[in-house]
Amino acid sequence: MGLPEERGRSGGGSGVREEAGARSRARSWSPPPEVSRSAHVPSLQRYRELHRRSLEEPREFWGDIAKEFYWKTPCPGPFLQYNFDVTKGKIFIEWMKGATTNICYNVLDRIVYEKKLGDKVAFYWEGNEPEETTQITYRELLVQVCHFSNVLRKQGICKGDRVAIYMPMIPELVVAMLACARLGALHSIVFAGFSSESLCERILDSSCSLLITTDAFYRGEKLVNLKELADEALEKCREKGFPVRCCIVVKHLGRAELGTGDSPSQSPPIKRPCPDVQISWNEGVDMWWHELMQEAGDECEPEWCDAEDPLFILYTSGSTGKPKGVVHTVGGYMLYVATTFKYVFDFHAEDVFWCTADIGWITGHSYVTYGPLANGATSVLFEGIPTYPDTSRLWSIVDKYKVTKFYTAPTAIRLLMKFGDEPVTRHSRASLQVLGTVGEPINPEAWLWYHRVVGAQRCPIVDTFWQTETGGHMLTPLPGATPMKPGSATFPFFGVAPAVLNESGEELEGEAEGYLVFKQPWPGIMRTVYGNHERFETTYFKKFPGYYVTGDGCRRDQDGYYWITGRIDDMLNVSGHLLSTAEVESALVEHEAVAEAAVVGHPHPVKGECLYCFVTLCDGHTFSSTLTEELKKQIREKIGPIATPDYIQNAPSLPKTRSGKIMRRVLRKIAQNDHDLGDMSTVADPSVITQLFSHRCLTIQ
Ligand code: WTA
Repeated sequence: MGLPEERGRSGGGSGVREEAGARSRARSWSPPPEVSRSAHVPSLQRYRELHRRSLEEPREFWGDIAKEFYWKTPCPGPFLQYNFDVTKGKIFIEWMKGATTNICYNVLDRIVYEKKLGDKVAFYWEGNEPEETTQITYRELLVQVCHFSNVLRKQGICKGDRVAIYMPMIPELVVAMLACARLGALHSIVFAGFSSESLCERILDSSCSLLITTDAFYRGEKLVNLKELADEALEKCREKGFPVRCCIVVKHLGRAELGTGDSPSQSPPIKRPCPDVQISWNEGVDMWWHELMQEAGDECEPEWCDAEDPLFILYTSGSTGKPKGVVHTVGGYMLYVATTFKYVFDFHAEDVFWCTADIGWITGHSYVTYGPLANGATSVLFEGIPTYPDTSRLWSIVDKYKVTKFYTAPTAIRLLMKFGDEPVTRHSRASLQVLGTVGEPINPEAWLWYHRVVGAQRCPIVDTFWQTETGGHMLTPLPGATPMKPGSATFPFFGVAPAVLNESGEELEGEAEGYLVFKQPWPGIMRTVYGNHERFETTYFKKFPGYYVTGDGCRRDQDGYYWITGRIDDMLNVSGHLLSTAEVESALVEHEAVAEAAVVGHPHPVKGECLYCFVTLCDGHTFSSTLTEELKKQIREKIGPIATPDYIQNAPSLPKTRSGKIMRRVLRKIAQNDHDLGDMSTVADPSVITQLFSHRCLTIQ
């Protein structure tokens, strides 16, 4: 593998080089020497040594890392056992089975008592309004979590129970998830931007016995009456014969009425005049968080769990339309998120870390809550959005808390790029040392802007490729070691063995393009799909026996760098969130006017991809802007605002193969008005395509 050498030099010490390779004319940027000097992994050579050891001796490599954690009882048998090959039997992965521990104990009690960091700030909380702030130390967080664990215990929650959490980014969300973990109960967090229908579906799928939610919150200017959505979801659950017996409600917008109390968010009264949010109350089911907390005791012995016990369920879109409940386990997930956090962000004790992701997504689980806390880090927890009250909000927060490591999504970068450099340069950002991205491929323009403007050319960028299923980073640069190429997630993390396969499942060597797969388990890999192990095996292991199949395509260049080329299944990535075309199509056809629907991804300057929907109407219905508004509303209600389509086109009929399969490849071309359709020999009726091209102008945006 040839190494990119450094040639030119640009401001702040990053080297830049133009490469001659035909396919990758990408420049590469060396890690700045001042970052390498103090880095855990200071050179590419050191990275390679560690990576090789992690693959050749995974048990020893992860065994050494495990020693830093608290285990109630050590691992009695093999450190790792697994089967990745469906032809040889059931797929399973077990790291440290039989060892017992508790992740909540490791991220709080251990930090307070063993590391003596009780007074260190765990989170700076910044509300939607810049004046709403508070902070919480490790010791305070531990007290809150013990209180709330006792609350849950009193409500009958035991090890193995499932608890649904539907909350905005407030400290109580972290408290709630850690309290579940302390009791060995599985949290199932549903992003507060999801609809009541989606919440209901997720509660039912894992039969959650309790829901934790919030009265209401603001996202920028927009008021979200979350309790109302939670009520609708619980009503739907009741209708389907599954009554959730308890709903705990945090008074967040109404917090000002409570005085200071001992809530972790001892925020000053909210400045914004609080409109009357109508909260309906279901006696016997609803309970106020602050009332229950007042009665709860201070101490709570953690439930000691097997390393292989489930820790949480997090739903991710599946290509069949029904979301999959990804299950992560206590021990492996803990080791993996702690280790990736430490190396990928090159964590040091004095850092202030900020991951802008919502905890409702895996990035928030791993890099807002578990990874930073396991390292005793101080983080920012942000409730708001990048454009409120103005487009410089993120950078004002960076300066306010002197953020050193900053992690966000390409869609946020593209959104902010539109407003130019001034909102960024208005703030000093002198504290920043490392920048990160996640969620989708970052286009080189956005990478270069992030590097030049946000990072003032002195901060390495870690473009981290991973998935809900992988628990933590899989392909990523290390800030002090890896020369970066804009748009490439570079090399595998420790313990990760990628391969590129062709359609026949053969491993391709050297420069190649194909399916991205992983050859051996890493500790953070998901263990099953909740309640459906067969779906786990089919989705990730059937196509190429012996490998974990990511569902992404990738290219490896002449220097061994990996470039993600996008999803190869029927999944869309809108603003870094995965959506299945089937899920959106089924929401569309539930409308009485729609006979058939096909949804494809379409390039979008900010979202990366947006939804372009083709709908065939039932007889007697006409296509109109009223109808498209109704359809958009329907999708918002069924799935959530993130799935709102940008385009809906009337399609009197859809292009299909002779065997009746909708030709999405062709629909994508029609959406882009690209007449170069390639091989059309399989299309059943070519006149449909001409008709759709001519109907493009009728698309209502
Ligand atoms: C995509 C998010 C390119 C990819 C952590 C993956 C990326 C899916 C990157 C998982 C990246 C994520 N470069 N593509 N750095 N990061 N993806 O489950 O298609 O929400 O399979 O997990 O996002 O999305 P998920």
